Amino acid sequence: MTLKLPGLIDAHVHMRDPGAEYKEDWTSGTAAALTGGFTVVLAMPNTQPPITNDKNLSLALEAGRHKARCDFAQFLGAGPDNAAVIPALSQKAAGMKMYLDQTYGPLRLDDMTLWRDHLSQWPVDAPIAVHAEGRSMAAIILAATFFGRSVHLCHVSTREEILLIKAAKEKGLNVTCEVAPHHLFLSDEDIKHLGVGKSEVRPRLATRADCEALWDNIQVVDCFATDHAPHTLAEKDGLNPPPGFPGLETAFSLLYTAVSQERISVDDLVSRMYTNPRRIFNLPEQQQTWIEIDQKARYEIGSSNFYTRCDWSPFSGWKVVGRITRVVLRGNEAYRDGQVLAPPGYGVNIRY
Ligand code: NCD
Ligand code: ZN
Ligand code: ZN
Ligand code: ZN
Repeated sequence: MTLKLPGLIDAHVHMRDPGAEYKEDWTSGTAAALTGGFTVVLAMPNTQPPITNDKNLSLALEAGRHKARCDFAQFLGAGPDNAAVIPALSQKAAGMKMYLDQTYGPLRLDDMTLWRDHLSQWPVDAPIAVHAEGRSMAAIILAATFFGRSVHLCHVSTREEILLIKAAKEKGLNVTCEVAPHHLFLSDEDIKHLGVGKSEVRPRLATRADCEALWDNIQVVDCFATDHAPHTLAEKDGLNPPPGFPGLETAFSLLYTAVSQERISVDDLVSRMYTNPRRIFNLPEQQQTWIEIDQKARYEIGSSNFYTRCDWSPFSGWKVVGRITRVVLRGNEAYRDGQVLAPPGYGVNIRY
């Protein structure tokens, strides 16, 4: 039985290009995206150099233009001294990303007066996505409200966060959020078998009760986003393991397995992987674009031979239901039965 769905949108992907192409680049990352059923990826700005100005944005967009196999847009990063200049670039970017807590890379806004500068100057109709955990999340919701603007909360992982967002929505505040599959399917109980280095991720794997709270409040979750954050196995097993999991190639099947178990519906999946991200990030419709799924296929997630350059998964050995068999992107077959067919450069910058 073949299920046909719109091309999926992943609003949270780390391409590592420019600067750390040995982890991932636009070509390998978008091959992984197509394999996972994603036809649009929004790339995060914590690259080397970070995407905080016109010159660095051009670097990323030029690399994407030549190397991406699926459609894309690039986030700008909020830094300590760019609040006045990046608004002029907002039309060229997926949105602005604010990092409020410690994570991978140097982009971080510790000083709340910098929040004010960014929240007040970034155009109110252009998206802002934030990495804000726990109390920082409460603080940024309040700050965004003061400036009468929306804010999208990345990778929500705990009970207190999802309940905070639920309360904010009930008050009519303009907040949206995403959850990553690893925070739905993995908890701190998995650290033992994954290993300490491999299980490093920000936000950290939370308790089983936190996972349950995310499932119990799935109606509060606007998007599923992978937070595909590739680092090599050598790095993950090394002395200073960087945080992050690859996720593009496993997200759909993990979530479709939840559909097969009647934990969520196909409509829940489509709203969170297509309709809502498209609305929140103001993305154009992709003509003649869809994915085909073999709903009955059962398989085990492997431990290598992924398209992502980092070539590992925290879900190796997981048995899943539902396999993407075909991706058609703007009228052309972009993926079929394990083969990525769209060449580097086929992908277009949707903010062009
Ligand atoms: C991300 C990365 O590696 O860039 N890591 C992570 O653990 N999620 C950064 C981030 O999304 O916070
Ligand atoms: Zn060029
Ligand atoms: Zn983050
Ligand atoms: Zn991320």
